[in-house]
Amino acid sequence: MAAAVLVAAVCGLVAGAWWMTRSWRRPSEAMHGIPGTMGWPVVGETFAFIAAFSNPSGILSFMRDRQKRFGKVFKTYVLGRTTVFMTGREAAKILLSGKDGVVSLNLFYTGKQVLGPTSLLTTNGDEHRRLRRLIAHPLSVDALKKHFSFINALAIQTLSSWSSGRRILVLNEASSFTLKVIANMLVSLEPEGEEQEKFRANFKVISSSFASLPLKLPGTAFHEGLKARNRMYAMLDDVIARRRASADAGAGHDDFLQMLLMKHARGSGGEDDEEKLTDAQLKDNILTLLVAGHDTTTAGLTWLVKFLGENPDVLQKLREEHMGIKEELGGEEHLRWSDMNNMPYTNKVMNETLRRATILPWYSRKAAQDFTIDGYQVEKGTSVNLDVVSIHHDATVFADPEKFNPDRFDSTLKPYSFLGFGSGPRMCPGMSLAKLEICVFVHHLVCRYDWKPMEEDNSVQPTLVRMPKNKYPILATAL
Ligand code: HEM
Ligand SMILES: *[C@@H]1O[C@H](CO)[C@@H](O)[C@H](O)[C@H]1NC(C)=O
Repeated sequence: MAAAVLVAAVCGLVAGAWWMTRSWRRPSEAMHGIPGTMGWPVVGETFAFIAAFSNPSGILSFMRDRQKRFGKVFKTYVLGRTTVFMTGREAAKILLSGKDGVVSLNLFYTGKQVLGPTSLLTTNGDEHRRLRRLIAHPLSVDALKKHFSFINALAIQTLSSWSSGRRILVLNEASSFTLKVIANMLVSLEPEGEEQEKFRANFKVISSSFASLPLKLPGTAFHEGLKARNRMYAMLDDVIARRRASADAGAGHDDFLQMLLMKHARGSGGEDDEEKLTDAQLKDNILTLLVAGHDTTTAGLTWLVKFLGENPDVLQKLREEHMGIKEELGGEEHLRWSDMNNMPYTNKVMNETLRRATILPWYSRKAAQDFTIDGYQVEKGTSVNLDVVSIHHDATVFADPEKFNPDRFDSTLKPYSFLGFGSGPRMCPGMSLAKLEICVFVHHLVCRYDWKPMEEDNSVQPTLVRMPKNKYPILATAL
């Protein structure tokens, strides 16, 4: 996989050189005085960067090496663009708090094209705030309550198939579970059957096109991704048309799409029709929630199971918490909604997982105006990345940072030291959903099974969202 990515990177970078050179500016022109090396012409430091991905410590080693030489702010040229990396809590505050419109989100060109111009992820300022308001409600704890029983049943069902003594790839199980949850929540897709299979197939293609090279030639990941996106949109058009066809077509569909159609879509009645969402906006943002919510939750759940496997004392404590809940349920397998407020240790385990794994290792922004950081002048338009991995491994905040220790979340942390879900106006709007899925799954897992990894390999996939490369294969035994 790493080799394939490297080969693809070489071919693509050469083939796409004409495209890249448009953004290739000598550092002296773009960023006066910011230290750093730009590496080789055209490819820059891309190889060192991609190589760092696959090793267990990920890009932490790439960052550490350069921070030692250049300090907390340095420039480099990776993945087709000149970029300034910054780390530390001060930098996090400047980049994430969004005060005075200093920065805006900075997606890759391919991601922007796939998600469309009206996605939450491609808008800024007032338009971004408006979209956030619209999606906040369906993703709130209150609105999630109605999906609780589906999530519970699906976790139980997914785990039932683990007892056969077969080799289980935790990442695949987590991926299937989280995709079924979100597809059901967004558009009431049934967890089994042809529709689900088509949906999954399209989504996979879209997902892998996201950080691909910007070559719109038949057969390339980008081209295939755009085609899959169009198929997905056609499917959504169908559903929308069916629901609009008759007044009560939405009856029984208590999902995200229905909530938008009833209240926030054009033609849904009431005043301010102009202010409401067009069908294009609706589809862009349903896809956005899928893209932003699926791989992240899958990775979070997989890392959590892996860390539990490696830390028997933590698993023991976690199991005590869940056995306590199970006892109260007295033979009933399904959790009650109120049990969700009764998992303090699980919440710490989840945060510690997101700290140690840092599944999104850096957050990307574009300078919306000139600004100064650490005495350096950053020009408007510059791509700036917050290196979160280093913040999460700062030994002055997290003693013995490599250790998996959920109890470190007992003490109050300094602001901007834990950024698992980000912070500020772009903070993850799916946090409650992710927590809900993970807590429910983990409850049923630890009450039912013990497990052993089938191989020791700590390599990481060279993808934007960090995941164990071997998908964490285990053998589960019933308790
Ligand atoms: C464990 C799971 C998850 C993690 C670790 C996670 C993490 C994050 C982080 C760190 C950001 C901010 C990135 C930045 O500032 O550049 C973010 C944004 C976002 N997340 Fe999540 N997320 C998770 C699950 C979800 C879920 C389940 C959904 C949706 C249903 C979701 C939807 C989004 C969206 C739409 C944004 C963009 C917000 C904006 O730009 O205003 N995430 N997430
Ligand atoms: C986990 O992190 C979230 C997000 O930063 C925070 O709101 C929450 O209080 C933390 N929970 C625990 C138990 O530390």
